[in-house]
Amino acid sequence: MAVILDGKKLRDKLLEKLQKKIDKFEVKPKLSVILVGENPASKIYVNNKQKIAQKIGINSEIIHFSQNISEKELLSKIEELNNDKAVNAILVQLPLPEHISKENVINSINPAKDVDGFTPYNYGKLFSGEKPNVYPCTPKGILLLLDEYNIEIAGKHVVVIGRSNIVGRPVAQMLLDRNATVTMCHSKTQNLAQITKTADIIISAVGKYIIKGEMLKSGCVIIDVGIFKDESGKTRGDVDFETSSKIASYISPVPGGVGPMTIASLMLNTVELFEKSL
Ligand code: GUN
Repeated sequence: MAVILDGKKLRDKLLEKLQKKIDKFEVKPKLSVILVGENPASKIYVNNKQKIAQKIGINSEIIHFSQNISEKELLSKIEELNNDKAVNAILVQLPLPEHISKENVINSINPAKDVDGFTPYNYGKLFSGEKPNVYPCTPKGILLLLDEYNIEIAGKHVVVIGRSNIVGRPVAQMLLDRNATVTMCHSKTQNLAQITKTADIIISAVGKYIIKGEMLKSGCVIIDVGIFKDESGKTRGDVDFETSSKIASYISPVPGGVGPMTIASLMLNTVELFEKSL
């Protein structure tokens, strides 16, 4: 039976340490989160971020715009936050409505306040092997979780499934920088099981039920980034826990694995940007 990679426990440990650090600051870090529209999942994420930020002493505000806000209005709000000295971290919750260019919005964030690490400046630094101001939250959380359990990365074959800008691409790059041998798989990959069978570490970030025990090498490590509700309304990940946890040596659960680590990383990034701004 695999060891559970407990994201909640590590989140609590990291946040406790961070809170002690924030207690010592005279002026507190401030995170501004922009939410556009009524996407139920986004609303839950944003509220969770707000609750945790406030709990550990980060000033946090949610700026909620209606679905039909114009791109111009949104860009002008970001400009205002860029110029506001009290704000040191800006997050625009994705996805955005279709009439708004995600690219224009992300490009408009000051890279020094880009808490997701998604601006071309920070993303470009990451992909050229240089240090960005901060690393994207979910990939950073995944690496913190692997490190907490002393899971070796250098020289290991890591299979990343999913090529999103938020998870797949940046996590692959960060693992490459840690000397992993990385294979990227995606929706057009043929013979996925043949590839996963050779993986020492699997990172699945698809949002579909795709990984079963029979696709795994004995003793592998599984990071399940997927989170969605199945037909019966149960929250689940990409990985069939029942069969996979019998073959793997470590497995991250859903919920309680990567999700809490993403929020912990956001708080860490907010404080890192704050300290850089001093
Ligand atoms: N939507 C889903 N994940 C994320 C994330 O990490 N950052 C932002 N801004 N939006 C998201």
